[in-house]
Amino acid sequence: MKTRITELFGIEHPIIQGGMHYVGFAEMTAAVSNAGGLGILTALTQPSPADLANEIARCREMTDKPFGVNLTFLPAFTQPDYPGYVKAIIDGGVKAVETAGNNPAQVLPPLKEAGVKVIHKCTSVRHSLKAQSIGCDAVSVDGFECGGHPGEDDIPNMILLPRAADELEIPFVASGGMADARSLVASLSLGAEGMNMATRFIATQEAPVHDNVKQAILAASERDTRLIMRPLRNTERVLNNDAVEAILEKEREKGAEMTIDDIIEEVGGVYPRIMQNGEMEIGAWSCGMVAGLVYDIPTVKELVDRIMAEADAIIRQRLEGFLTA
Ligand SMILES: Cc1cc2nc3c(=O)[nH]c(=O)nc-3n(C[C@H](O)[C@H](O)[C@H](O)COP(=O)(O)O)c2cc1C
Repeated sequence: MKTRITELFGIEHPIIQGGMHYVGFAEMTAAVSNAGGLGILTALTQPSPADLANEIARCREMTDKPFGVNLTFLPAFTQPDYPGYVKAIIDGGVKAVETAGNNPAQVLPPLKEAGVKVIHKCTSVRHSLKAQSIGCDAVSVDGFECGGHPGEDDIPNMILLPRAADELEIPFVASGGMADARSLVASLSLGAEGMNMATRFIATQEAPVHDNVKQAILAASERDTRLIMRPLRNTERVLNNDAVEAILEKEREKGAEMTIDDIIEEVGGVYPRIMQNGEMEIGAWSCGMVAGLVYDIPTVKELVDRIMAEADAIIRQRLEGFLTA
C-alpha cells in the first residue's frame, strides 16, 4: 500500500507504533520496522541522552529498516535534557521523530536541519493545524478512545478524523482505538493515510514487557479502561485495577482540590514495576479501549501481515462487492 505516510517515512505499510513508556525499547521498535511498519523508541524511557544513543545503536543492530524516536513533552517532575535527546537522535542517524504532549517548536529547528521527518501526535484539530503551521511533516490524530493522554476535548475518531481531513493539508495517521484491518480501512475512508497503534502492539510476542501485561490486555474488554487525573487537566486513559480505583476515590473525595501529590504513589515511577515485574495492581498504566479488540498474542509480523491481507480483502471484496452486487 502506498500513501503519503509510507512515502514520507520510507516504509512498506502505513502502520506506526506509537511511543510507549517502558515498552518502546529496541525489541519492540525493530520488530515493527522489520514487519514493514515504523517502529518508535521512547526517548524518555532512557534515563539519559547517552542511554538513548545506546538504544538507537542496539535497534540499528536489530533492523536495517527505518525507525523513529518518540519525544514526549509532558508535565514532568524534573525537566528532561531535551537538547541532549535531540542530539542523540540526530547523531544516531534517526530520520523520524514522533513528538507529543506539547508544542514541539523548541526541537523543530535542529531536527529539520538534520533532515528528520517530524510527526506530531495531538488530540484536536486546532493543535493539528498548529503543528502544520510550525512545519511538522505529518500529524498523528489521537482520538478519545486512545490509551494514554486523550486531551480534554473528548472527541472520538469517528468525528475527529474527518474533521482533521477537512482542515489539514499535511498527511495524518489515525491514532487511538486501532487494532486490525477494519481500523486501517476505516481510517483511510475517514481521510487518514495510515494508522498508529500502541495498546495492540503490547499484546505481541516481541513486546518486551512481562507476560502479565499482555494477559491483562487479552483479558480486558472495551469497558475496562478508566480516565484518571481529569481534575488536574492531565487526563490519562488507563486499565482499571486496584490502584486506579484508589485514584478515582481520591478524585471524588478531593474534587478540584486534588494535587498530583495526592496520587503520586499510584502514578509516580510505577512503569518499571508494572511493565518489567508484572506487578499489575500497584499503579496506573496507559491502555486503550481497543483492548476489547485484542484476542491473541501474535508475532508483530503475523499481526502486520494479517492487517494488510485483510485490508486488501475488505477493500477489494467486501466494499467492491457492495458496489457490484
Ligand atoms: C503503555 C503505554 C504507554 C504510552 N506511553 C506514551 C509515551 O511515553 N509518549 C507518548 O507520546 N504516548 C504514549 N502512549 C500513547 C500511544 O503512543 C498512542 O498515542 C495511544 O496509545 C494510541 O491509542 P491505542 O492505545 O488505542 O492504540 C502510550 C500508550 C500506552 C498504551
